[in-house]
Amino acid sequence: MPASVTAASTEKRYALAAAAGPQLYADIDTVVSERLSTGIGEFDRVLGGGVVPGSLVLIGGEPGIGKSTLLLQAAAHFARTLGPVLYCSGEESEHQIKSRGERLFGSPGGSELRETPLYILAETCLERILETLARVKPALVIVDSIQTVFSLKFQSAPGSIGQVRESATQLLFAAKGQNVPTFLVGHVTKDGNLAGPKALEHIVDTVLYFEGEKHHAHRVVRAVKNRFGAVSELGVFEMTGSGLVAVPNPSELFLAQRQGNAPGSVVLCCVEGTRPLLVEVQALVSTSTYGNARRMASGLDQNRLSLLLAVLEKRAGLNLVADDVFVNVAGGMAVDEPAADLAILSAVASSVRNRSIRPGTAVFGEVGLAGEVRGTTHAALRVREAAQMGYTRCVVPDGTVPAADVPAGCEVAGVRTVSEALDQLIDW
Ligand code: TYD
Ligand code: MG
Repeated sequence: MPASVTAASTEKRYALAAAAGPQLYADIDTVVSERLSTGIGEFDRVLGGGVVPGSLVLIGGEPGIGKSTLLLQAAAHFARTLGPVLYCSGEESEHQIKSRGERLFGSPGGSELRETPLYILAETCLERILETLARVKPALVIVDSIQTVFSLKFQSAPGSIGQVRESATQLLFAAKGQNVPTFLVGHVTKDGNLAGPKALEHIVDTVLYFEGEKHHAHRVVRAVKNRFGAVSELGVFEMTGSGLVAVPNPSELFLAQRQGNAPGSVVLCCVEGTRPLLVEVQALVSTSTYGNARRMASGLDQNRLSLLLAVLEKRAGLNLVADDVFVNVAGGMAVDEPAADLAILSAVASSVRNRSIRPGTAVFGEVGLAGEVRGTTHAALRVREAAQMGYTRCVVPDGTVPAADVPAGCEVAGVRTVSEALDQLIDW
């Protein structure tokens, strides 16, 4: 890297930092950042109520999951309502983007977009992107994807750590400097991490991930970092023939295909961000043929499953040594909060005994090593969601839902131990 380059960018960095000099804390105005709507309710929700001007948002996800689709939809809305949008694409040509647009906004050419200032720039050179940005003065910038962008200052290939970090940093300066919200698309590696290191996550204000499987129609977008909103906030979408459509009631979607009376199926009330959500946890326990029992978890932490199986053996007297255990969160959702423990345990117990969970029942609760059921956050919120979805009984950690918060038509059974919980859930 030439010395002059380092000097220049360092200078710029200092210029930003030293612009004002120290200020007395008490003198600093409280700024309520305005939010700009993307026109897609669920997208606004994950962002914390819309996108903040001058913020840099990274959107990660596997190829083909819908990143470009979501951003093009948001771009069209911005261009219609707020002003020019610059969509920089290093992945696809203008024509490819146009044909996606025709699918989304109708053909030919999306007549409503004819007069709209939506600019597509098929460009990967950072300097040219920044130059266009300064000239067009857009209300929104999209860079799809950050791994294709390269700076002339570096010799290394696009996608390398240096290039990705430099591009993101320069785009950050541009976003803050011109107070324009900027979305970066990031690829994920096979193990699900954003390529072009963690460094990128530190640079940006917000990191959103697309979850879910390509084979399902629904997509979950989760905030894993957000300087302007709740972390782990979820947005749920459905991929349709004309783009991503917000799903207003995700619990309904996740439980749509549930067969109520199947042994091993339990309804869990989880909370993601600020949103309560009902999902189905399924377990299948079968005799292992080859002597080495397998434990497989999908949508759940594998180590947590092993721990819970040990608790089940020790505290509830179930013998699982010679069994294969498979546990799955239906619909491709990932749940990582401890409140899922009780649902996982009871799903396994229900499958072992081949007895279904009592109808109309939903559960949540963390389980400790001594077999005790521990309280969780947002207990009342979870019960309310279950009641709204027509569940008549909730098995919950004892003493976490005050009588005043128990919704009409829904019975709340507080339990202190795993065995108490199983007694409440299954007719042994
Ligand atoms: P895309 O946004 O290109 O994914 P990414 O940018 O994350 O790689 O999404 C592509 C997939 O979405 C592709 O398999 C086709 C599908 N799709 C629809 O089902 N409906 C649509 O309206 C559009 C535009 C795409
Ligand atoms: Mg794409």
